[in-house]
Order: sequence, then C-alpha cells, then structure tokens
Amino acid sequence: MKLSRRTFLMGLSGIGALGAAAGAGFGYMRWGEADWFQSTTTLIRTGRTAEAEPLRILHLSDLHASDVVPLSMISRAVELGLRQHPDLIVITGDFWTDRFNRINDYTAVLKPLSDHAPTFAVAGNHDGGSWAALIRGWSDLDTLQELLTGAGVTFLHNESATLTLDSRRVTLLGVGDWWSGDCRPYRTFATAATREANTLRIVLNHNPDAKTEFADYDWDLMCCGHTHGGQLRMPFTGRTPFAPVSDHDYVAGLNPWRERLIFTTRGVGNLHGLRFNCRPEVSLLLVS
Ligand SMILES: [Fe+2]
Repeated sequence: MKLSRRTFLMGLSGIGALGAAAGAGFGYMRWGEADWFQSTTTLIRTGRTAEAEPLRILHLSDLHASDVVPLSMISRAVELGLRQHPDLIVITGDFWTDRFNRINDYTAVLKPLSDHAPTFAVAGNHDGGSWAALIRGWSDLDTLQELLTGAGVTFLHNESATLTLDSRRVTLLGVGDWWSGDCRPYRTFATAATREANTLRIVLNHNPDAKTEFADYDWDLMCCGHTHGGQLRMPFTGRTPFAPVSDHDYVAGLNPWRERLIFTTRGVGNLHGLRFNCRPEVSLLLVS
C-alpha cells in the first residue's frame, strides 16, 4: 500500500500527540500528585468517650522512605500532621520500601511527633520479616525497633498500651503484620487492660484484610493503611485495581464492619513514585 505524504504526516502528528499526552500523564502522576498531600479530618463516633471534646488522633501510614519518597517529603507530612495539634499519634507501618540505611536522619524526621504527643506504631509488610526478606528487605524488625526507639515512638508488636488523655481512656492494640505471618491477636488482646465502658479500644494493624482475624475480640475502631488508597484510582469509576487487598470495600476512608469501624488512610508515601486520582493523605481522626 502506498502512503501519501499527507497521510504520513498526519500519522506522525497523531503519534506525537499520543506521546505528549502519555508524557503529560506520567509527569502528573510522578511530579504532580505523588507528594501533593491532602490533610483530611474524619469524625468518628464510638460513644466510648464521655468528654465533650473528641480525641484528636493523627494517623500516618505507609511512609515508604526510598529513592522516590525522600525524607524531606516525610518531614513535610510530619509538619502538616503536627499543625492539627493531635492528642495522640499512630503510625500503621511501612516506614520504608526496602533496606533503608539512613536511620539517624530518619530518626530526626520522626522525633517531632513524639515530642508533641504520645506516639505508637506497628510494623507493615515492608518493614522487616518473612515477607520483606523476599523483596530484599530486612529479615527481622531490629532496624525498625532501632528507628522507633530513637524517635521516641512506642513499637507495639502484638502488644497493647492503655493511656489516659485528659480523663479519656484509650487502649491501643498493636498487632503484627498479616502478610509477614506476625499477626497475633490472641497475644495482643491478652495483654490489654480490663475493658471498661468508657475505654476506647483501637486496633492498630497494617492491613485491612486482617480484620477477620479480630472478629472474636472486643474493639471499637481499627486504624490501618497498606492500600495507599489504591495509589492509582480510575477516573469516574473510582475503581482501585492495584490495591493489594482482597476486600476492596476497605481500600480507603471510614467504613463499618460488624458493628465496628475501620479507618484506612491512603498513606504518606508510595511505591514507584506514582499516584493518580489518589493524593497522599495526612489523616486526623476526631474520635468521640
Ligand atoms: Fe505500603
């Protein structure tokens, strides 16, 4: 088939336009949205705290320190979160993507959190253990423990902590990561203080799919991450085909589950430096 000069030039310009559109789309995902934080506030009513003022909980997750998520970006998320004046801070895992070595620098970035309010954390699948070892990450949680200890953050690994904040009692139940085979709710709940009617019980766990592991236990709210909100959300439909969970009803936001509530934050960092229609999130929970 003989191609006319005009058809040839039109074809070339079409390919050029497609290439420019693809380039612009990639540029937006990489440099437009990946570090464009959204500060969100979510009202959560549990009926457990009698105080008029709700508890202000800063929930961060999936910081993913790496080549595509610099510490400066995590530091901005920390600053943004502290501007919300939280009473309590929780971090639900994935502090890095693989073997992150700048522990002293990272410690300095996280320290302002515990300087401001009691801060607690659980591990994610990337932080260390059997799953992380498969992707050349740390094979244990020693480095995470070193980071958190240095930053004044209490690491809850299948442990609980009960604290009183202006007469409001809160029990945090920090459960190990499900994908890493470290999820031990029995051990965690066995360490918990006796439940009182006005004590808020919050499960901290990395992965919302692990919720079924906690079905037989007594708690009000679960805070988790892992999904990155889907990271790339389809326009118009909002579908999240890349969210690494089996239950896509809990990819982001506040959702009910068996007379309890689950909050999944979209998280601070990302994998591969990309986000689309799914901005990184610094989440403030107002819990009453
Ligand atoms: Fe993650």
